Amino acid sequence: MNYRHAFHAGNFADVVKHVVLTRILAYLGQKDAAFRVLDTHAGAGLYDLSGNEAQRTGEWESGVGAVLRTPFKPEIEALLAPWKQVIAGFNPGLDTDPSALRHYPGSPLFALALARPQDRLLFCETEPGVRAALGDVAHDFRAKVLPTDGWQSLTAYLPPKERRGVVLVDPPFEEAGEFHRLAATLAEAYKRWATGIYALWYPIKDVRAVDAFQREIARAAIPKTLRIEFDLRTVRQASVLSGCGLIVVNPPFTLADEIRTVLAALAPVMASDGVGRSRVGWLIPER
Ligand SMILES: C[S@@+](CC[C@H](N)C(=O)[O-])C[C@H]1O[C@@H](n2cnc3c(N)ncnc32)[C@H](O)[C@@H]1O
Repeated sequence: MNYRHAFHAGNFADVVKHVVLTRILAYLGQKDAAFRVLDTHAGAGLYDLSGNEAQRTGEWESGVGAVLRTPFKPEIEALLAPWKQVIAGFNPGLDTDPSALRHYPGSPLFALALARPQDRLLFCETEPGVRAALGDVAHDFRAKVLPTDGWQSLTAYLPPKERRGVVLVDPPFEEAGEFHRLAATLAEAYKRWATGIYALWYPIKDVRAVDAFQREIARAAIPKTLRIEFDLRTVRQASVLSGCGLIVVNPPFTLADEIRTVLAALAPVMASDGVGRSRVGWLIPER
């Protein structure tokens, strides 16, 4: 496996994924009942943006870097607040100076920061070095860092004892068949835990593969399946990463409007053509 998230940490795709994740976690945190987080492909947890990998691509500069430099309307700032607060927690001085950005947290640290004492979190990561790094930064009584294969965790650890919670599935998309695997595993996981929220991240590169994936998800006929897509350009280009998407099953009722609003504001800021595009809607239209 060659994938190293450190090259991509804080890029547009991380921003989209983590803003969606933090809106879901903020919603879950509104009720006292405990929630569960299962992060099937967790990564290293914290990324040094001045490190060799991040500097070589510079992807974070047009992602988190651009967003933090941009002043938004109060409505957008309110929606970004949980995401920004977590980032600020790892970057002293960032509240007043966007150039103080040095570290970008990964999905496990967003989840830990927004979890309460009663909540529990499972983080799966199969690469030993990456898992050791995650263990160092996610050392917390509420969390377990596991060597379990992320795909298998969807059957091994579901259902949890909590009724509420979120499963993030964020594979590297390096192996053939990962789109099919994602759709098939969702159907299995949903049978086990139908009350959970599922957020499945995917790249938009091979448009035909994305279409086939969405048709396969639609065939599973899971009610309440939201599709969120973000494009770096108004016109998609074949064979390059031109955008990303998330399938969210059982989204909080507030999520579609929130993400539609926030992505419309983020599109011109992160887009490579200065315009970008986003869309949010039900995969199977509601009757
Ligand atoms: C896209 S990165 C995760 C990023 C992270 N979710 C975040 O948002 O910060 C994918 C991670 O999955 C790990 N990985 C690859 N295959 C895996 C598997 N079968 N099970 C669990 N983790 C895996 C990789 O080592 C990599 O760290």
